[in-house]
Amino acid sequence: MAEPLILGIETSCDETGIALVRGRELLADVTASSMDEHARYGGIIPEIASRAHLESFVPTLDATLERADVDLSEVDAIAVTAGPGLVGSLTVGVSAAKALALALGKPFYGVNHIIGHIAVDELVNGEIPANSVGLVVSGGHSSLLRIGDIATDVEELGATLDDAAGEAFDKVGRVLGLPYPGGPHIDRLSREGDRTAIRFPRGLVGGRHKEKHQYDFSFSGLKTAVARYIEGLETEGVDIPVEDIAAGFSESVADVLSAKALAACRSQDTDTLVIGGGFSANSRLRELVTERAESAGITVRIPPIRYCTDNGAMIAALGSALVRAGVEPSSLDITVDTSM
Ligand code: KG4
Ligand code: ZN
Repeated sequence: MAEPLILGIETSCDETGIALVRGRELLADVTASSMDEHARYGGIIPEIASRAHLESFVPTLDATLERADVDLSEVDAIAVTAGPGLVGSLTVGVSAAKALALALGKPFYGVNHIIGHIAVDELVNGEIPANSVGLVVSGGHSSLLRIGDIATDVEELGATLDDAAGEAFDKVGRVLGLPYPGGPHIDRLSREGDRTAIRFPRGLVGGRHKEKHQYDFSFSGLKTAVARYIEGLETEGVDIPVEDIAAGFSESVADVLSAKALAACRSQDTDTLVIGGGFSANSRLRELVTERAESAGITVRIPPIRYCTDNGAMIAALGSALVRAGVEPSSLDITVDTSM
């Protein structure tokens, strides 16, 4: 018998993502983004994002069904991001998913967006081995996860206490006068700089942080240190070495993320690290994590970048894993959970 057909819906931030997955096979994945509307404000405007989801939802659903050549009535279960994310954005997706589940008489699953960022890797690289570590890094999150089983046993080992890695990049981008989002621009500039020229601080590393915040991150102090460094040079009237600043800053973030992810792998005695989230495009993070994992005998799994940014496939993949594991569906009474 064919495995159940899962419809995945993602609307936690600015992307309306809808996908169809059967088992671990992706049948269709369509994403509409309102990023162009936010870019001119230099950040996501929640009201614009919610309205855009409402406008994009039906066309995105239709496009997904058409691409997979599937009728809505063939869907066996519906999975939707219940959190974390923007309350208005989440509400559009969750309300639509509930309505579909009710109309079709099919089970409904409200799922965790961060775990979805790891689950999507199953569509590309196959089953995630039991006992893996997940690192999810984007503009909204920086989390380390212990993955006993992707459907039934995921625990947060640590997360950022303030800014997410991508958010820190975007804020430093603003200080450097780069277009929003600044992350990819800083990454590009960093490759022309000397990463040893300026040493910026590493947040929550060593000393008194060893025990309590071993797997947590903090990038806000680093962002302030970069801003102060630039202000200092401006006061002196010295030229700003943008490339070296970008390289030194990228080095600090990539160093902390990769060191903590590999320390988590060692402590969990795992040989698999799965990375997800839009920040995994960062070239220095990829370089450092690969280098360090190789010497520790750890396999790094990173899906192609289009599956690392927010999309419906990650939610359909997680929904599929939940159905496969026989997990009970969510009640239609659930609400969104912005802090999940
Ligand atoms: O996952 P994503 O598309 O959206 C969410 O935040 O959920 O991640 C986008 C974030 C932005 O902050 C962006 O600046 C950052 O990831 N980013 C990068 C790179 N590509 C995207 N940051 C540094 N280097 C990159 N190459
Ligand atoms: Zn995300």
